[in-house]
Amino acid sequence: MSDQPIPPQAERAQTTGSAVELLQQARAHERAGAMTEAVQCYQAAIDRADQDGQRGVLAEALRRLGVVHHHRDQPVLARGLCQRSFQAATEIGDVVLAAEALNALAGFDFEGGLIEAAREKFYQALELGGASPELRGRTEQNLGILANIQGGLIEALTHYQRSLEAFESAGDERGCAIAYHNLGMVSADRDLWDDADRYFRLSFEIAQRIGDIHLQGLGLLNHSEVHIARQRYDQARQNAETALGIFDQLGPKLDKADAYKVIGRVYRETGRHALAESRLRSAIDLAVSTGSILSEAEADREMALLYQSMGRNQEALRLLNAAHRLFGRLDARVDLVDVSTKVGRLEETYLAVVRDWGQSIESSDSYTFGHCERVAGYAVALAGELGLDEQQRTTIRIGAYLHDLGKVRIPHEILNKPGGLTPEEFRVIKMHPVWGLELLATVEFPWDIKPIIRWHHEKHDGSGYPDRLRGEEIPINAQIICIVDVFDALTTTRSYRPAMSRGEAFLKMEESRGWWRPDVYQAFLRSVNRVAEAA
Ligand SMILES: [Fe+2]
Ligand SMILES: [Fe+2]
Repeated sequence: MSDQPIPPQAERAQTTGSAVELLQQARAHERAGAMTEAVQCYQAAIDRADQDGQRGVLAEALRRLGVVHHHRDQPVLARGLCQRSFQAATEIGDVVLAAEALNALAGFDFEGGLIEAAREKFYQALELGGASPELRGRTEQNLGILANIQGGLIEALTHYQRSLEAFESAGDERGCAIAYHNLGMVSADRDLWDDADRYFRLSFEIAQRIGDIHLQGLGLLNHSEVHIARQRYDQARQNAETALGIFDQLGPKLDKADAYKVIGRVYRETGRHALAESRLRSAIDLAVSTGSILSEAEADREMALLYQSMGRNQEALRLLNAAHRLFGRLDARVDLVDVSTKVGRLEETYLAVVRDWGQSIESSDSYTFGHCERVAGYAVALAGELGLDEQQRTTIRIGAYLHDLGKVRIPHEILNKPGGLTPEEFRVIKMHPVWGLELLATVEFPWDIKPIIRWHHEKHDGSGYPDRLRGEEIPINAQIICIVDVFDALTTTRSYRPAMSRGEAFLKMEESRGWWRPDVYQAFLRSVNRVAEAA
């Protein structure tokens, strides 16, 4: 889904006069992309308007030239021109032009990361120029976008609704279509599917009536998100393919990437894996070619979900790591996106894939079903008892799911052997921490779980494996997994013995307390009882 709300379009009525002609020429050049000529004409319009005392035209030309310079990465020049525009408009008491200048300055603040300053100026612009419905429509829309990227969905909804009312009273149909579209997006984000359906339909009808093809394509594509949520897969795919056809004609690669992503999701949800993979691959390639971090990260995440559903967990994690790195580079202001919500959703996906993978390891060892999930539960409780922070708790949870990953390489008959193991068989078992690390060699995690995997069988008294570390050499995360791993092994049925009661397990562990750091051992006893009470 293209998550960006559509920014407003700058249009304003003209007056007459020679400075006006220059201004019109400048705008024509700008629309045609002839920026050097546009800058010259704006400058000439400014000079002429200044001579002739046409303050209104002066204010307008100053602002427009300011915006051009802003797009040409000349922020100081841009700001200076818009401030002069504000002064010129204020001198003649043209509140609408003054508000337009404020609106432009607020936009610069916003893109420069000065969110509060931007909000303040948008409100000032509303107060000054609110009588002009066009200006009100665009300013409310900007405030909506601002709220949206900060996760304030209800606030965004209110602003978009106000912008809709303003565009309606201005008779601006395109403005209305954009407002309906943005209302559809926010409603979908809030899972208000009926509303979203209705808004997207209204937006599309208007876009069709006024012949705005691009807006039709965006509307179809984003509406397909609602179709997917409601499992109307055929409708979703038809919409996205029509949108793709439109974008093919118009040529914006980024929109095409989003269309491929939606089509890929439909194929994934309907179990057509090969088609899903090829469409999502196109989405990723297109996103990479446009340099859009957001689009690439989202496409990576969708592909990871496909790999997860195919049991290709290693590949899924590799993509999720890539997406995680990309999200770290996202800039909410530039990408118009609520980054924290997106990162939260990505981390949820991450945990789901890791949990899946952990469970698939268990399936080769019929006696350990649910082991990883329980170890994760005990370990996170123990980490909390030891006062470890959120980041460390997440590391421990993921490490818990994957700590025995290397067991997939242990032959089934050794893993499930009833009775004692020969020394040779035990030597094979002791390889699993090293094999686990080998399996993860190509996966770069945002959380450092490798010490857990390698050292979760190391013991404080130096009697563990594979590296015979002792004391403080063993990282705390590995000690935590070690102790709860032993506890879960003792309290569940194994191929070689029945489950012990908790009391028996505690006695058994008391005999071996030299295996763990004393504070870890004590904290374990406190926390495990709490987990028992909660269970
Ligand atoms: Fe293990
Ligand atoms: Fe284990």
